Amino acid sequence: MGGVRSQPGPGWSRRGLSRRDFLRYGGAGLAGATLLGACSSAEREAYTGHIGPAFSGSETVSKNTVVFTFGPDTSGNLVKMIDKFNKTNGKGITVSYREMPADSGQYFDKLRTEFQAGTGTVDVMGGDVIWPTQLAANGWIADLSDLFTDELQAEYLDAPIQANTYKGKIYGVPWFTDAGMLYYRKDLLQKAGKQPPETWDEVISISREIVGNGDAGYGLTFQGAEYEGGVCNGLEYIWNAGGDVLDPQDLSKVVIESDAATSGLELERRLVAEGTAPLSTVVYKEQEAHTAFLGGDYVFCRNWPYMYGLAADPALSSIKPGQVGISPIPVQESADQSFSALGGWNFFISETSTKKEEAWEFVKFMSQDSTQISFAINASLLPTKKKIYEMKDVLKKQPAVELAKEVTQNSRPRPVHPFYSDMSLVMAEGFNENLKGEASPGGTVTELADELERITNIGESVFNVGG
Ligand code: GLC
Repeated sequence: MGGVRSQPGPGWSRRGLSRRDFLRYGGAGLAGATLLGACSSAEREAYTGHIGPAFSGSETVSKNTVVFTFGPDTSGNLVKMIDKFNKTNGKGITVSYREMPADSGQYFDKLRTEFQAGTGTVDVMGGDVIWPTQLAANGWIADLSDLFTDELQAEYLDAPIQANTYKGKIYGVPWFTDAGMLYYRKDLLQKAGKQPPETWDEVISISREIVGNGDAGYGLTFQGAEYEGGVCNGLEYIWNAGGDVLDPQDLSKVVIESDAATSGLELERRLVAEGTAPLSTVVYKEQEAHTAFLGGDYVFCRNWPYMYGLAADPALSSIKPGQVGISPIPVQESADQSFSALGGWNFFISETSTKKEEAWEFVKFMSQDSTQISFAINASLLPTKKKIYEMKDVLKKQPAVELAKEVTQNSRPRPVHPFYSDMSLVMAEGFNENLKGEASPGGTVTELADELERITNIGESVFNVGG
């Protein structure tokens, strides 16, 4: 990433001002806009590169066109659904899909830049579960409470509804939910006479045995790169060692500086340093991790549910869904419950949209049972409506939904905070430095405690968080 450079001063290094120093001296809230904006297009990546109808964001948009933004359409099901809506809505509404970066942080930054500049043409966003607080606190997305009533909300899983609620109002309609999970090679574990691992020690020993026997090249792969997915992975290591980042009872209180959090990061580092996961893991995002695992040379992979769907596509996978098992993220011996990062995507309507009614028609279409079912079956995206988890024919066609049930029940939100994107930047950098061995686990939690406190203090004064 380019970044801000060229002026001498505190914290300036050869590679310019680090993002952490930028937060320290420049102030939170600006960091993402300035620094992520400097990413080259080459740094953007698609899961599998399916490109939807082209729309760059600067064209004039016709009266009945609703602009919808989302990352790459991995499965092709999104374009299918948009086509269906365009053909059947009967109101002359056309949805135009503007493809955004797969990387949640880069996507968010693009939106933030447009909202801040007042140049955005977006009407509906498919947006990350970590965004509503920040988008709502800034007045960028519409309060949907009158449309998405309590009665409608009651059909949905609690966690995504909570995540879309800000100061008692609902700002997003949950599209699909995500939870980090451990994929394992059923066939390889069976051959070795092993059960799916519940602890990290078991992951290490099973990996050693299977790799030692020559049945796989590597033990584990996960998302270790410096980005949002790396934050999710780092948090899972912290949670599954019994630690946390903010005090859930008081969001202005940073609690990351603990033995448990340190031991979580120590383990994450050890997995790479001792070779259970290859060194390349430190730059892996979802795409690299799924390509590696589906290539057939790994025993384990931490990823989101979408990867299960890809295993059914012989063009993307040299292993078959039948060879793949799913279980909760392992824990350290000292912890007794497994937690996964709560992920997922939602529909938000831009506060400045002049087509809110048309936008809502599209959101309604995308939220129908049949649309959720189609994403579940064709893309293994987990439904957000409770009743779909009880539909036997859906579970039969897409076993990942059933398999993921247990995992989703134990998913934990990332820190809910109006300055979450700034917190995420410093965690992404800290976790990645630890993983690369550039900082010690203890040093990382001490430094992160300091930086996160700075950000939450600013949040406290601007938005009265936790007060
Ligand atoms: C998945 C999750 C999302 C998370 C992202 C990180 O898309 O659904 O919540 O932020 O991965 O890469």
